[in-house]
Amino acid sequence: MAKTKTTFFCQNCGSQYAKWLGQCSSCNEWNTIVEEVIQKEEKRSWKQNNAPKKAAKALKIDNIVLNEEDRIHTQNNELNRVLGGGIVRGSLILLGGEPGIGKSTLSLQVALAIEKNVLYVSGEESQSQIKMRAERLKNNNSNCHILTETKTQNIFKNLEEVQPDLVVIDSIQTLHTDSIEASPGSISQIRETTAELIKFAKETSTPILLIGHINKEGHIAGPKILEHMVDVVLQFEGDRNHTYRILRAQKNRFGSTAELGIYEMQSTGLREVDNPSEILISQKDESLSGTAISATLEGMRPLMIEVQALVSTAVYGTPQRSATGYDLKRLNMLLAVLEKRAGFRLGAKDVFLNITGGIKVDDPAIDLAVVSAILSSNEDDAIPQIFCFAAEIGLAGEIRPINRVEQRILEAEKLGFEKIFISKYNKLSKPFNGIEIVLISRIEELYDNLFA
Ligand code: TYD
Ligand code: MG
Repeated sequence: MAKTKTTFFCQNCGSQYAKWLGQCSSCNEWNTIVEEVIQKEEKRSWKQNNAPKKAAKALKIDNIVLNEEDRIHTQNNELNRVLGGGIVRGSLILLGGEPGIGKSTLSLQVALAIEKNVLYVSGEESQSQIKMRAERLKNNNSNCHILTETKTQNIFKNLEEVQPDLVVIDSIQTLHTDSIEASPGSISQIRETTAELIKFAKETSTPILLIGHINKEGHIAGPKILEHMVDVVLQFEGDRNHTYRILRAQKNRFGSTAELGIYEMQSTGLREVDNPSEILISQKDESLSGTAISATLEGMRPLMIEVQALVSTAVYGTPQRSATGYDLKRLNMLLAVLEKRAGFRLGAKDVFLNITGGIKVDDPAIDLAVVSAILSSNEDDAIPQIFCFAAEIGLAGEIRPINRVEQRILEAEKLGFEKIFISKYNKLSKPFNGIEIVLISRIEELYDNLFA
């Protein structure tokens, strides 16, 4: 019998070593190198008796024909938008997210709603469990095939039989291939099985939606190279205690990564949220101190988001600062700016910040609302609910202009806001009649405008 061949892989970055090391020399992580068995066979193709392929030929770019048929429109508009208009044939889409966030639900919903032949492969749930889930989701696609299998060779056998237009695999970490001996979920298994799936997808032009688990740092578990191998990397995120879920593209070879899909988890599955602003602003009758509404943009869509702050006297020596849905470093920076440029003594106060709805915001235009919410809580003076904010704040306390301000103003106007605070340096090309625009240039002016 041949001697078992093993190699050492870093479980963090996927680097390969001939012997064990305490620290990976490529990503500098400690204790991540693990021995894996990699007995390789001769053939590694997805088809056992693969005929040699014709060599590819170079074509002039003008002679390459594109047809609309290259994209499959799912019935899910939010997903279509994030993907840049639908699923591209022959592409590999990796969908990552925390356990319980709804990856399997979303994938099954897509599989059931699409009017195509689909093969849904699960390594995690039995056929009857999936059927039970499908009954809750109500959609019914009689051409959706369910398979519980983890061995890629068996999956390919089923693929040849079913000849689907779309394949869903739940999840890549449960798959294993016969061609190497490492256990499922290990770096080398993930790499090999993905390579086999890519080969299948490209040769047959069948798109594959691949579900991936994430590790405790929030990255997709497996070698970093996995994200390079696939065409699209989607991240499904949200707070488990809230019902809203956000789908983002981290990488997309066929579209923009700025787009965003918003869903709400209901008892009958994920509902697409067409008008996100309405749900992100809590409906209440009276104004409360410490809340301010920001006109942000997520992708191409304007989104009104409520920011809540609580400022209170610190009980212990070191004041606490905490932020949910917002960068803590940025919060500290804004507090320092308030202290230095506007003379607000927040140094001995605890400051808590929360973006409602459990979503994360990267748009710098939210800064002004964050500062307004903090000031409002500190003064214990409510900001009228008909006010909203959209500007970035610089280190010198200056109110900076932001992109696509008119789109934000329009959204605010549409939702019935009566006043919007923006930077003096934002140039507007047309007047707005339905909403008052307050132009400010320095952080001190904000205070006078709100509470003086
Ligand atoms: P799931 O898709 O299994 O998550 P993942 O595959 O990302 O681990 O989603 C599981 C959660 O979703 C579960 O906690 C219950 C909830 N859920 C609903 O609220 N409504 C539904 O219709 C379904 C199917 C799930
Ligand atoms: Mg799942």
